[in-house]
Amino acid sequence: MEFQRLGIVGSGLMGSGIAQVAAFNGFDVTVVDVDQARVDAGVTGVRKRLEREAERGRISRADADAAIARLHGSADMDSLNSLAAVDAVIEAVVEDIGVKTALFKRLGEVCRPDALLASNTSSLPLSDLAAASGRPGRVIGLHFFNPPWALKLVEIVTTAGTSDETLADAHRICEKLGRVPVQVKDTPGFIANRLLVPFIFDAIHLMDSGVATPEDIDMACKVGLNHTMGPLATADLIGLDTLHLIAESMFEEYGEPRFKAPTLLRRLVSLGHLGRKSGRGFFRYD
Ligand code: NAI
Repeated sequence: MEFQRLGIVGSGLMGSGIAQVAAFNGFDVTVVDVDQARVDAGVTGVRKRLEREAERGRISRADADAAIARLHGSADMDSLNSLAAVDAVIEAVVEDIGVKTALFKRLGEVCRPDALLASNTSSLPLSDLAAASGRPGRVIGLHFFNPPWALKLVEIVTTAGTSDETLADAHRICEKLGRVPVQVKDTPGFIANRLLVPFIFDAIHLMDSGVATPEDIDMACKVGLNHTMGPLATADLIGLDTLHLIAESMFEEYGEPRFKAPTLLRRLVSLGHLGRKSGRGFFRYD
């Protein structure tokens, strides 16, 4: 089947970024979130980023305008009626199994029977979402990386119920989006976060025990290990609340101490210091 109309549920960091990549690569995109303010924030963010790219000469003005024209927003989160005709949905709401399960149940009711349903979850059991949808063969994970317009990797996640046709469709969607796919089975953290989360937590423990400053920990990784970003800046970019939720489900599943969220991370989340998106996390942002 031809994939042209894409629904994206959640217009936060990831949902709006995926919407940008999709609209830029020719999909007609509908972004849905819980209220109009969040929808508008997501859509405005996409427009500003595309306009900035055009001003810098990285993309043409015509391509930016065409992408913006292909992007629409809706706040009908309860009914999801705006997604009734889409070819595929990518879900990117808060990392909460109750919220995502209820959403997949509704998607299964409202979307066309042949529509592909994908989740961007980092750590929650995709199999639970597949079961809730009532169409497990059409459910797959498409785990994008942050920020989606800059990082091309997508982890394609399969459950025991994912059909071969859905897997082939997921590869075709990634190709149309200009992404680089890797394939992984439904396990918490998949490949990248399973490696990354304990690494970030070790950096937090180093900082919290006073061994080195956050600046020096990140500098050591950037200059000495050739990482593009340090682990603490990466945590701020992910969002400390999201990192905490990802770690919770990994710890619950694996039971290994290396996945247990450090106390400092939990305290920062309680204080609303969520990283870049709130202006303060391990570092401060203007
Ligand atoms: P975010 O906090 O920026 O956005 C979450 C969105 O979900 C918000 O727009 C919010 O309005 C919506 N939402 C909240 N409660 C809801 C509810 N009850 N029903 C429906 N929508 C609700 O989070 P972010 O970072 O965009 O994460 C979204 C998903 O993407 C999560 O599953 C996360 O694990 C995954 N992810 C996050 C990455 C990151 O670096 N932040 C990277 C890759 C995946």
